[in-house]
Amino acid sequence: MKKKTGTKSVISTTPEGSSSNVTHDIHSTVFPYFSSWQKSHGKVFVYWLGTEPFLYVADPDFLKKMSGQVLAKCWGKPSVFKRDRDPMFGNGLIMVEGDDWAMAGLMVDSTTKMLDKWATHINSGNPEIDVEREITATAGEVIAKTSFGISYDNGRLVFEKLRSLQMTLFKTNRFVGVPFSKLLCPGKTLEARRIGKEIDQIFLSIVNARKESINQGQLQTDLLGLLLKESQVGGKGRTLSSRELVDECKTFFFGGHETTALAITWTMLLLAEHQDWQNVLREEVREVIGDKEVDATLLGGLKKMGWVMNEVIRLYPSAPNVQRQARGDIQVGDQTIPKGTNMWIDVVAMHHDPALWGDDVNEFKPQRFKDDIHGGCKHKMGYLPFGFGGRMCVGRNLSFMEYKIFLTLILSRFSFKLSPNYSHCPAIMLSLRPTQGLSLILQPL
Ligand code: HEM
Repeated sequence: MKKKTGTKSVISTTPEGSSSNVTHDIHSTVFPYFSSWQKSHGKVFVYWLGTEPFLYVADPDFLKKMSGQVLAKCWGKPSVFKRDRDPMFGNGLIMVEGDDWAMAGLMVDSTTKMLDKWATHINSGNPEIDVEREITATAGEVIAKTSFGISYDNGRLVFEKLRSLQMTLFKTNRFVGVPFSKLLCPGKTLEARRIGKEIDQIFLSIVNARKESINQGQLQTDLLGLLLKESQVGGKGRTLSSRELVDECKTFFFGGHETTALAITWTMLLLAEHQDWQNVLREEVREVIGDKEVDATLLGGLKKMGWVMNEVIRLYPSAPNVQRQARGDIQVGDQTIPKGTNMWIDVVAMHHDPALWGDDVNEFKPQRFKDDIHGGCKHKMGYLPFGFGGRMCVGRNLSFMEYKIFLTLILSRFSFKLSPNYSHCPAIMLSLRPTQGLSLILQPL
């Protein structure tokens, strides 16, 4: 067995039932420090990021007791989403009737375009494709169109810039979030600031153009339309400045495409490894969709695909940790968590904890989710791919829809297996990514 940490390849003995040598036991690879500190300090401990103390939590029971003491609004977030989201999203992403249908159509169009490109590539004698980049770019295009009604070109531009911002910040910089770390990497900080400004500029022009079109009486019911409506006088929320609208758009654009794209990408890795599940899903698509056009109403019938998605985001949660900040003192048993404490909840650790899932914790077994939405986890708060409580992800349903559309179309047109060039290097770059991409060998059906 060979096992390396960091962004190096992780190879292990072949797990039973799988056709490759990729290990899913990733906690010590993606969070080496937490994995080693857990051994000496347990599943709840305090650590320091420079001058800032953080409470590390990988114990669902502690989490339950802690969140039981807190009303949703008493949680803040350390650095992201500082404002209260209620005026914008309420309890979820509100869509007016018919929107899911229109969104499904846009998703089908973009995915089909991507698959046509793959087919051309394969026909020209190149069956190997890095599907990670392709899927992320297409998901970026989908969110750009469905949420902001922006053009393909503008969507691509924002996508490319966000990606380079992420790479600049996370590729080699291990100090993200550490106070004064900017002083340690002045070149990168300047570069990040420059890209950040360019992204702001693109969104600002989108927001201003939309405001102008509203003034001329044109209404659009996409996310930006909703944000603008709710933030105007007469809406439920307060008026948001253009600056705030740009921030919300960026959070939404980023949170809305990469997470789902990664879930699809990791699924393709697992299905490439498990040809049996690839066939099961293809069969399900044949039964449920057949020759019909893919639309939102049919997707609910793809039950096994739902189990697969749940299992994939258990093993590879696109959002590998959840953060909170206590807005008041929180009492957990005889311990007090003081107001202002930052909390870092290790989702990867809980999803890979044999005490919660059993000895087969690192195996791909979608059937765990057959009759149980918690996948047989011994604690309901041990499975948190979308976060928890009042701040849970607002895009869950949309992501299930997008996931099922992408996979349905991919499975209907191609079979695929891992390329010998694939190197399994999961790492955290804000989200949990395959840092060397995902090279697959595709075969048209
Ligand atoms: C597989 C797909 C996805 C995963 C795994 C995921 C995961 C998460 C997680 C873990 C959080 C933090 C929740 C918390 O702090 O408790 C979050 C928040 C959020 N997600 Fe998602 N997400 C996904 C898809 C989406 C999509 C498609 C959208 C939008 C279209 C979206 C929009 C958001 C927004 C706006 C927030 C911030 C909510 C807040 O803090 O108030 N997400 N997501």
